[in-house]
Amino acid sequence: MVLLKEANTQDAEKEWQFVQRMPEDENGLTNSWHDVSREDFMREALPEMIAFSKGEGLPDGYVPETFFFLWDDQRIVGQFRIRHHLCESLKKGAGHIGYYIAPPFRGQGYGKEGLRLTLKAAAEIVPEEEIYLRVNRDNPASLHVMLYNGGRIVSQDQDKYYVRIANPGKGRYPGREEAEKLLEEAEKCNPGPWGNHSRTAAHCAEKIALYSGMCPEKAYVLGLLHDIGRKFGKRHLGHVSDGYTYMMSLNYPDCARICLTHSFNDMSIGSYVGNFDTTDEETALIRTRLQETAPDDYDRLIQLCDAISGAEGVMDIIDRMSDVKRRYGAYDPQKWDKNLELKKLFEDRMKRDLYEAVEKDCFRP
Ligand SMILES: [Fe+2]
Repeated sequence: MVLLKEANTQDAEKEWQFVQRMPEDENGLTNSWHDVSREDFMREALPEMIAFSKGEGLPDGYVPETFFFLWDDQRIVGQFRIRHHLCESLKKGAGHIGYYIAPPFRGQGYGKEGLRLTLKAAAEIVPEEEIYLRVNRDNPASLHVMLYNGGRIVSQDQDKYYVRIANPGKGRYPGREEAEKLLEEAEKCNPGPWGNHSRTAAHCAEKIALYSGMCPEKAYVLGLLHDIGRKFGKRHLGHVSDGYTYMMSLNYPDCARICLTHSFNDMSIGSYVGNFDTTDEETALIRTRLQETAPDDYDRLIQLCDAISGAEGVMDIIDRMSDVKRRYGAYDPQKWDKNLELKKLFEDRMKRDLYEAVEKDCFRP
């Protein structure tokens, strides 16, 4: 049976044998671990591959990348890689997906099946509407694999074709312009400082994402719409369920999720700062959805941005939490500490000061 498996320590022995035989550069797919010793593979190469998939230890300018191996029963026949989102150089260059099938297994359909499985995995990871690929013009077999999987050639130069394939995972959140329109419309229904608070959160999210190997566009949109539930009037906890239901009705589940998770940095309804003004049904919806959701980097990012975004601009996290505490009379101490943990988490990832990264002193919404 043919299946795609992420690089992992259980399969290390076979992965090493495969990777050390992969050429250093074939048709543009590079392998920095060609001829690697078993010891170096176990100590350096494999941990690096696993770290890259989590966005950790990336060299400057790199985006997170997941390494997969294509298995046929007990044998590895190929390697497939997904770069999680585009940056300027990937947009013009190698795109999202790269792959390699070992010579003895070529011409047997492994490329087609491997790319099909990789596109399925990419739908869960890649936020862009189209998957970008690039192939050498003197490699018709690989081009054929792409076209077979729904690819279309959008441009070419002297030695490459540039191919795009629709990403079925697209549309989980709106584009930037549509998100801005949604916020403007919502503000007309319920004007207030929350609009500019959301713009500040979007700005912060975009900047932090840029330095943390996350997708800046997705971060911006999620930040902009995290409080969109306020469209439906002045409610406290109610804005969470209103936002969730509204975004689900527009078929933007990634935004719906953030409407829910941004208020609960420990993922439990008990830590909410504000009034419980929801119906039993709404409370049950929030509680069950929170239980079902394991927080990811975007959940954590918007929780942090919410905690530093004021209507006038970026605020010091302590000042903002103290302000909320004054307004509501209390602030869950665990939630307080968790926000400081989030600040540290992203500062470590960015390798820079949070306020410097989000241009605290000069940004105005
Ligand atoms: Fe907010």
